[in-house]
Amino acid sequence: MDEKLTSLREQLPALHTQVYLNTGTSGPMPHRVHNAMLRELERQLAHGRTGMPHFTEMGRLKEQLRGHLSSMLGCAPSEIAVTGSSTDGMNLISLGLNWQPGDEAITTNLEHAGGLLPLFAARERFGITIKMADIAARPEAAADVIRKLITPRTKLISISHVSFITGALLPVREICEIAHKHGVLVLVDGAQSFAAIDVNVKELGCDFYAGPGQKWVCGPEGVGVLYASQDAVNQVSVTFAAHFTVDRYNAGGMLPHPDARRFEQGTVQTAVLAGYDEALRWFREDVGPAWAYGRIRELAHHARKGLAKLPGVRVLTPADAAGLITFQVAGKTPDAACTTLTEQGISARTVPQPGGLRIATGFYNTEAEIDRLIEAVAGL
Ligand SMILES: Cc1ncc(COP(=O)(O)O)c(C=O)c1O
Repeated sequence: MDEKLTSLREQLPALHTQVYLNTGTSGPMPHRVHNAMLRELERQLAHGRTGMPHFTEMGRLKEQLRGHLSSMLGCAPSEIAVTGSSTDGMNLISLGLNWQPGDEAITTNLEHAGGLLPLFAARERFGITIKMADIAARPEAAADVIRKLITPRTKLISISHVSFITGALLPVREICEIAHKHGVLVLVDGAQSFAAIDVNVKELGCDFYAGPGQKWVCGPEGVGVLYASQDAVNQVSVTFAAHFTVDRYNAGGMLPHPDARRFEQGTVQTAVLAGYDEALRWFREDVGPAWAYGRIRELAHHARKGLAKLPGVRVLTPADAAGLITFQVAGKTPDAACTTLTEQGISARTVPQPGGLRIATGFYNTEAEIDRLIEAVAGL
């Protein structure tokens, strides 16, 4: 095995207890991230959490995170909010627009609950209409399907970058172009694209992009990123208001930050921030984003090709994909197939309608691991 891969894999003990093919849910935790979190917890244990030094450390870590995240996404640090998860970001935008009854949001039938449920909440609260673009069978035609659903009442298109169900990479840039011609905002659920493929939010042209900590970048749970473009940020009101939301306040009212920081809230666990900071540093400096994206793509391609050759296996992931591959095995329910794989030490997961098994190829996986998966699926 290549020296770099060997040394990266040494950082990830979870790889040695299983064939780890479920970064799409949560990535394996590197020693470095674990150590950074422990160090921060030990500081809290020894010195307490009162007084300015603790809050200074929290502020410093958030600033550092905005630096890493803005470099990863190609935007300004002031366009980044550190959130608690991808779903947090989807809620902050979906619930924060100035919705009037009868306004419309467009989404698709490939979305995760993290993107869909905030729209349902907006519908209950504000009486909006949700239009569902049926793109499951032809994700490459998503822009056309969505174009036909836009009306003068459309305010928001909320769409995954990579579908958690089929792994399809959706044509977000094209969708943003169409949306903006009609004055519609675009919110992207980046849970399966952040740190899996090269994402430049300015090139995509989206207004908002939400991503996680715990998936492809191997950070901790309980942290995420929200990009809000400076041009669009004023169109979203704050849903949660807390001391980090505001520039200043007094008894008469508050002045939210003029940028994405308005989406940050109150006190957070500093150890989680320290873990995310370490994960991003490791990914950017030691792993190397371009190298990681190349490996994720190659391994996904390898898996896709190998699985597609097996009799009785139907791969649902289109050729235009990132790191998720979904497939069905004739005569086996996804649950039964997943259980058998787990018994053989291979971690995958099932996905809902149309149903299937999903694997995620991390930059740290080996070709031999993918071959082991293919062999195990052949045995099903
Ligand atoms: C497309 C998509 N959106 C949202 C989520 C939820 O992510 P988070 O746990 O960061 O909120 C996931 C994965 O769990 C996902 O795959």
